[in-house]
Amino acid sequence: MRPVLNPLVLSLKESATLAINLKALELRRQGENIVHFGFGQSPFPVPEIIQQALADNADKKDYLPTQGLPELCEAVSLFYKNEFGYDFKSSDVCVGPGSKELIFQIIYLMEGPLLVPVPSWVSYGPQAALRGKEIIPIPTSRENNYRVTPELLDRACYSAGQSQKLLIFNNPNNPTGALYHETEIKEIAEICRAYQVIVISDEIYAMIDFDQWPMSSLATYYPEGTIVSGGLSKSFAAGGYRLGVVLVPDSLELMMSALKSVVSETFSAVSAPIQYAALKAYRDFEEVRPFVEKTCDIYKYVMNYLHTRFIDMGLNCPKPAGSFYLFPDFDNFRKPLHERGIITSSALVNALLAESGIAVLPGSDFYMPATNLGVRVAGVDFDGARAVETWPGSDHVTKDYFHAFFPKIEQGCELIQSFLNRLNG
Ligand SMILES: Cc1ncc(COP(=O)(O)O)c(C=O)c1O
Repeated sequence: MRPVLNPLVLSLKESATLAINLKALELRRQGENIVHFGFGQSPFPVPEIIQQALADNADKKDYLPTQGLPELCEAVSLFYKNEFGYDFKSSDVCVGPGSKELIFQIIYLMEGPLLVPVPSWVSYGPQAALRGKEIIPIPTSRENNYRVTPELLDRACYSAGQSQKLLIFNNPNNPTGALYHETEIKEIAEICRAYQVIVISDEIYAMIDFDQWPMSSLATYYPEGTIVSGGLSKSFAAGGYRLGVVLVPDSLELMMSALKSVVSETFSAVSAPIQYAALKAYRDFEEVRPFVEKTCDIYKYVMNYLHTRFIDMGLNCPKPAGSFYLFPDFDNFRKPLHERGIITSSALVNALLAESGIAVLPGSDFYMPATNLGVRVAGVDFDGARAVETWPGSDHVTKDYFHAFFPKIEQGCELIQSFLNRLNG
């Protein structure tokens, strides 16, 4: 049989991050020595007390309310108030199986085009495409660490015309590690207010910030139009638990009621034991805080290490200030790469994997022009359990310690360096 598919689905391929993960793991299974800088997953174990809460609640079997376990919604709103100063009530919270699904449902619910800063996370575009939504890319520049400026946003909003506009705003950022500062956020908030933009502030990396604590958010300076998304996947190291949250302001109440309807007609509610585990994470955050702070310190050290090495070997790379990604580009090696027929970022990543055993993602998967030679590096190929057990604090890391506990990070740099040396003949 040849099924006739929804034409909106036909344009989709498997998510680039999941695909590179499978490829790298398969090569490893075949015995290849692969440095996996491709997949953005926390390398750390789920904190013991969250695991314990999950085990203790294995008997919870009833369907939970569509919006989420009421105690969890309350804990999430308080967590965001205490840690970030946001003003959401428990009735503003909706729990879902990962923030990815919730972002999709919000995109699905809303009319109007989606403004997407470039580069941006791989899934926003396909999610909008699934809804048949127009995507308006907002180009950014390396010189501004790939951050949107108020001028660029203004121009994009103006060119989008009169219709309602949605902006996806990811801070700290995947794929660049960029973090917006308060003055930038305030200016961007003013533009959003002027055009009445509805913002999805994707804050899944909110507690992995190296620069400021807490980070600045549009939820503070443009609360009436900002929906915040987050969840257990990154700072709490529990991506596979699949629990995300969105916080929707009162002013967008209509959207929240539509979201509840869509949730009730699709996944119904997140698995009950997982919601109880999340309750532990959010309500008893003080018990998890040392873990979050220590892992953030580790990320900061590793990302700074990678950044220094990349700059030393002649790559361009903005200094990451959050998340666990870097976005180096091979522009300075364009000539020898062209001589070898490598013109696009996707040809470049294929060469890096085939010749050097390094898995990274091409900038084109993040909506960069095909010929831009940027790649995304996820700096998480290390044994997180050992690292978190032995971490001496970033001020006390020695060369020997790093060599012993982060061998793949070092090796990845050496392999890229040799690749570049071979290019330069
Ligand atoms: C920028 C960004 N947003 C959202 C997500 C989705 O996270 P989850 O669905 O696990 O909550 C990810 C995951 O990698 C991400 O990198």
